[in-house]
Amino acid sequence: MTMDDDKLGLLTLRAWKTREGALVNAMMYLGHSLGLFAAMPVGETIDPSGLAERTGHDPRWLEEWLRCMAAAELLESDDGHRFLLSPEGAAVLVDDASPNFAGGAMQAPIAPSHLEAVGTAIRTGRGFSYSDLGTEMAKNVEAGFAPSERALLLPALVPAIAGLADRLEAGGSLVDVGCGTGHTLELLADAYPGATFAGYDPSVPATDIARERFAGNPRVSIHTEFGHDLPSDPRFDVALTFDCLHDMPRPDLTLAAVRRALRDDGVLVVKEIRSTGDFRTDRKNPVHAMMYGSSLTTCLASATSIPDGLGLGTLGLHPEALERLCLAAGFSSVTMHDIGDPVNLYYEVRP
Ligand SMILES: C[S@@+](CC[C@H](N)C(=O)[O-])C[C@H]1O[C@@H](n2cnc3c(N)ncnc32)[C@H](O)[C@@H]1O
Repeated sequence: MTMDDDKLGLLTLRAWKTREGALVNAMMYLGHSLGLFAAMPVGETIDPSGLAERTGHDPRWLEEWLRCMAAAELLESDDGHRFLLSPEGAAVLVDDASPNFAGGAMQAPIAPSHLEAVGTAIRTGRGFSYSDLGTEMAKNVEAGFAPSERALLLPALVPAIAGLADRLEAGGSLVDVGCGTGHTLELLADAYPGATFAGYDPSVPATDIARERFAGNPRVSIHTEFGHDLPSDPRFDVALTFDCLHDMPRPDLTLAAVRRALRDDGVLVVKEIRSTGDFRTDRKNPVHAMMYGSSLTTCLASATSIPDGLGLGTLGLHPEALERLCLAAGFSSVTMHDIGDPVNLYYEVRP
């Protein structure tokens, strides 16, 4: 092949833009964790000394941070002296009740020890679990997922599943398999005070947080156990697996255990990453590469954390694969619901 100068230029730029993205992400994380975005007025300009007065931080450092954010077009500035956080910017960077809020997902750059574990997994084929990634990762997962869940779970998802609200209002029992820190259970337990709830997840740091969250609440029990270790009698009316089946080394075994633990007239609700199983089609996703980055650092790692894991990874559980697994586990129907979540699809799975 001969060298194409235009292609060479574009690829060089792409490499440096990627490096820029990594550093801007790190500065966004600081803007979020130091409360810099939150201290800015919305829809009015501010200069570095104004932000220094509001935060007590150093004006010269704030000037450099503000210029970085404006250069990345997250803030607006004509002259590099006065900076504007627009209402749209506030929805993305500050307002954690907004469905567009991304602040919680702008996490600290990956730790060197984590990257080393990914390198080992590439060499050996054996990954690592969410438990291995510690408390910080458990909190990061919640920070990334909870805002869209607050916006969609009760207003859009529950009404889309026939009979779900009635079942919980009537005091039904629900199990969240792969419950993480329990933020989904908390929304449901608050909304349905007569129902009972159980959470299963093998991650010690995540379930420690969940247990603390529900301390003193007899309606919610948390189990540091795998999905395939669910009780084997049909005791639950509703089961959830939210953004976690593709992380499980053996989702087939978990689905079979969920089927056994669910009453015959119960329902399993699955939330899974949007994907089609076709790389060319999935490329339309504007953050397609980020999904593979997430997979290498968390999802594929978890799905290969034991020998013989199926290794699905972030984009591995597309509608067809999910239907195949559910039918093999003894469920009879899978109905997809697209409730306007740009990242996930939802499935109503009936015994
Ligand atoms: C991306 S997190 C999602 C957690 C939670 N559902 C949420 O929405 O925040 C994936 C979770 O799957 C859990 N997980 C991995 N393997 C599992 C298994 N075999 N059984 C149950 N949970 C598992 C992980 O520990 C992790 O907490």
